[in-house]
Amino acid sequence: MGKLAITGGPRAAEALSVPEWPQPTDTCREYLLEAFESADWCRGPWIERLEREFAEFHDAEHAIAVANGTVAIELALRAVGVEPGDEVLVPSYSFIASASAVPAVGAVPRFVDTDPATYNVDPESVREAITEDTVGLVGVHFAGYPMDMDELLPIVEEHDLFLIEDAAHAQGSEWRGEKVGTFGDFGTFSFQETKSLPSGEGGIVITDDDVLAERASTMQNIGRAQGETGYRHYHLSSNSRMSAFQAAVAIGQLEKLPEENEIREANEAILLEAFADIDGIETKPRDDRITARGYCVENVRYDPEGFGGLPRDRFIEALRAEGVPVYDGYEVPIYRQPAFFRDQVRRLLPPGIEVPDYRNLHLPGAEELCARNVSYSHPLLLADEPDIRTIPEAVRKVQTNVGELLEG
Ligand SMILES: Cc1ncc(COP(=O)(O)O)c(C=O)c1O
Repeated sequence: MGKLAITGGPRAAEALSVPEWPQPTDTCREYLLEAFESADWCRGPWIERLEREFAEFHDAEHAIAVANGTVAIELALRAVGVEPGDEVLVPSYSFIASASAVPAVGAVPRFVDTDPATYNVDPESVREAITEDTVGLVGVHFAGYPMDMDELLPIVEEHDLFLIEDAAHAQGSEWRGEKVGTFGDFGTFSFQETKSLPSGEGGIVITDDDVLAERASTMQNIGRAQGETGYRHYHLSSNSRMSAFQAAVAIGQLEKLPEENEIREANEAILLEAFADIDGIETKPRDDRITARGYCVENVRYDPEGFGGLPRDRFIEALRAEGVPVYDGYEVPIYRQPAFFRDQVRRLLPPGIEVPDYRNLHLPGAEELCARNVSYSHPLLLADEPDIRTIPEAVRKVQTNVGELLEG
């Protein structure tokens, strides 16, 4: 296939038809203008419509729109009744908000390991991490690949834990025919601009539980009772409301999401089939219980042995040079982030609460992923099918010509 692009050869994947993201569609423009010209810029019909339509889309009884996906997790934690000093299990390989929401509400995060095959919390590690102070688990449907609910639900039930499903990446994901987000107490979503349902900033929490929905609704609206306006406040809490403009954009984006997810899934199937024949590229297992996929990032694990020992970061550079926009993802597990140095966590907790020294923690699954992950973003999966087929060709080209890089 010729010389590698990184050493001056032609690209294997010239100008992939990857759409710009986010997409300013005509529908969104129309809704945004309508919201702008209405007198409802805050709570009102746009927010109610988004909440209704998203709840319906995700098979949930209730949805409460909020300012972003980080406050969505914090709100869910407060609404399930987490108290200062409680211990909450959190993922080790995710965006920091999946874990930082816990100290943000005054509770102690305890990290669980990640199953490197699925990128989700490892159920065995969850079981081992539970102590008598553990009150719940925040788990992520990482990259929209659902957590194994058959394994996790019995554990949370047996130990009487709450479960918050961080579904920031999982708009549209299904487990056994049911959308994710209501297997536990709350599902939380992000509509930040890189997500598959973007509204600039934004988020939503969903639940099937009437009482939890009422609490979350009150807490996100600075303590006002559900449906009330005015100056009676029943709970000391903050304002995490979404604006009507965010809602108008999200409604427009939601309309195109199901069709886009189908395209992504079809293109992903092409990649999975091709990657199965490439040594050194390991994909997530096919699981028939996952009946639909949502997307955000997508991931494969790179094994240098399949590429003559070429380091992961050099592989990424070579593939990027071929025209395939891949990247390495999280450099460190969340517990290695400077934000999780013990003194920083301690500052947010009540005095006298024991905080683990996360610097001594080693979770092999999460650390393996930091070293071996290769990511690509969901817009790549919207490229035309012939372009998608050039991606594994580019990988093979790097593999076949790896000698050019090893000699260098
Ligand atoms: C897994 C996960 N959870 C939560 C969030 C937080 O969402 P936001 O950026 O809307 O606050 C993100 C954002 O990237 C995320 O990836």
